[in-house]
Amino acid sequence: MSPPSAAAMPTAADIALAYHARTKHGLKRYAAGPETLDWDAQPNPFREFAGCARTELPLRSDRLAASFAEACQGVAEVQPLTIDGVALLLELSFGLSAWKEYGPDRWALRCNPSSGNLHPTEAYVIADNVPGLGDGLHHYVSRDHVLEFRCRRRTESAGEPRLWLGLSSIHWREAWKYGERAFRYCQLDLGHALGAISYAAAALGWSARAIDGLDSTALAALMGVDRADDFAGVEAEDADVLVAITPRLQDQPVRPGLPPPSTSADIWEGAANRLDRHPLYRWPVIAEVSAATTGTARDAVTTSLPCPARTPQSASRAAELILGRRSAQRFDARFTMSADTFHHLLDALLPRAAPPWNAWPFPAHLHPLLFVHRVDGLTPGLYALPRGSEAQSSLRRALRPDFDWQRVASAPAHLPLFHLLPTDSRGVIRTASCHQAIAGDGCFAVAMLAEFGPLVRDEPWRYRQLHWEAGLIGQVLYLEAEAAGLRGTGIGCYFDDSVHEMLGVAGDRLQTLYHFTVGRPLTDDRITTLPAYPGRTRDEAGLVP
Ligand SMILES: Cc1cc2nc3c(=O)[nH]c(=O)nc-3n(C[C@H](O)[C@H](O)[C@H](O)COP(=O)(O)O)c2cc1C
Repeated sequence: MSPPSAAAMPTAADIALAYHARTKHGLKRYAAGPETLDWDAQPNPFREFAGCARTELPLRSDRLAASFAEACQGVAEVQPLTIDGVALLLELSFGLSAWKEYGPDRWALRCNPSSGNLHPTEAYVIADNVPGLGDGLHHYVSRDHVLEFRCRRRTESAGEPRLWLGLSSIHWREAWKYGERAFRYCQLDLGHALGAISYAAAALGWSARAIDGLDSTALAALMGVDRADDFAGVEAEDADVLVAITPRLQDQPVRPGLPPPSTSADIWEGAANRLDRHPLYRWPVIAEVSAATTGTARDAVTTSLPCPARTPQSASRAAELILGRRSAQRFDARFTMSADTFHHLLDALLPRAAPPWNAWPFPAHLHPLLFVHRVDGLTPGLYALPRGSEAQSSLRRALRPDFDWQRVASAPAHLPLFHLLPTDSRGVIRTASCHQAIAGDGCFAVAMLAEFGPLVRDEPWRYRQLHWEAGLIGQVLYLEAEAAGLRGTGIGCYFDDSVHEMLGVAGDRLQTLYHFTVGRPLTDDRITTLPAYPGRTRDEAGLVP
């Protein structure tokens, strides 16, 4: 028998596109996932490295005066880049925000949201000459707010302090519950994490910027997640992205440098813990799509639409708002939000050279499709917000021909908000969001339409990048909703092709990658809120339900 011809072997793009197609949820069939879950045997939500020196970090968020508006305008007072600053950066991006208790159950919430609260994203710090921190690689443990010293650099460093955050994903955390679709959730969570870093940096008067041009092998080596012995017999971590942190605000950041390379003199310590002792299922497509979508993110540019600087409608302290962010579990289905607030929220999604978008040096490829239910002065129905100058015409060609594409006259002149169709979409978007009431009960819901097939076919790593952009948009909606006295919730569970049909999307040129909903939350008084770090000082007066 002759070996299969090269033409029969699937390319990386084929694998990514086939993964996407097979992990669609549909009205008649959900993507493959576990048939049973043993809730008592949930994977450990905290990765740790046994045998590392640990540095306990101070909790300083109660002392950070910067307002959310100052952070978003890039005018917050610049904090020194020392261990205290790094502690604040981590506290406000990956730190715990509260413990929750209901009956016998107790679970932690973090500043970054996560599908199913499963938190696949791990954060690493690479420090060079930062006062109070050893030079080298540290791993952050959010449960204790400590850094584990993974790799001690032996070379002398001098000069300005420099800092990077590296992010990786433990796919099993999500796959345990969600099966094959989990890779998508890990990437969405990663985008939220990037947003969380960018906002936290902005509150410190710093800039964060994702680094492009670094291939996945180099990235894995920098974070030590390729060290087979340290991960023997435990769940693997996939290196995703490196973020350069600059301890000052910059309008147009210069291309950030890379961390010093590791040398044979460096001292590595620690072995990763096992998170799930008895995994019941295996989802091999996740490793396949992960391998097919590695690569080097390139094409960093700073795209911005010509739009004026904006100020969030909130006088709150940035730290309080970030620590108070929560997902709404239910909405007040009678509440109507103002058009001003709606426009203000959408304005925050336009790419600008200001936080948090200064962290994202890539062109905008995602465009919100809005299902407006209750916004004062706006006809309920479908709307679109094309986020790039070319996007309006390409969306117009790709979506239903009966959409009217009327510019919303009451919106600010620079906001590319278009009315498409008057309709009561509460029922259909609820059904299409896996029957979740939050999609119909909020003031509006969003489907994030990505420019998809041609981009992924050309460069499969974009499959990850598109999901990261979606997560970043979600993080902006979360925090801006909080700033407006409302609340949001990410929606990863939706029936992909039902939404495409509704919008007239044919083929894979456009795909919806993430949904979101915003409204006035109803809180569940049965759930008790406890401090994030009991016994340690942080201003607990700011705790919200
Ligand atoms: C990518 C993503 C997808 C999510 N999907 C859903 C969803 O389909 N339904 C839902 O009720 N919540 C969803 N959530 C909200 C999470 O359940 C929530 O973030 C998590 O429980 C942590 O709670 P917190 O956001 O209040 O910190 C999603 C969150 C993220 C980040």
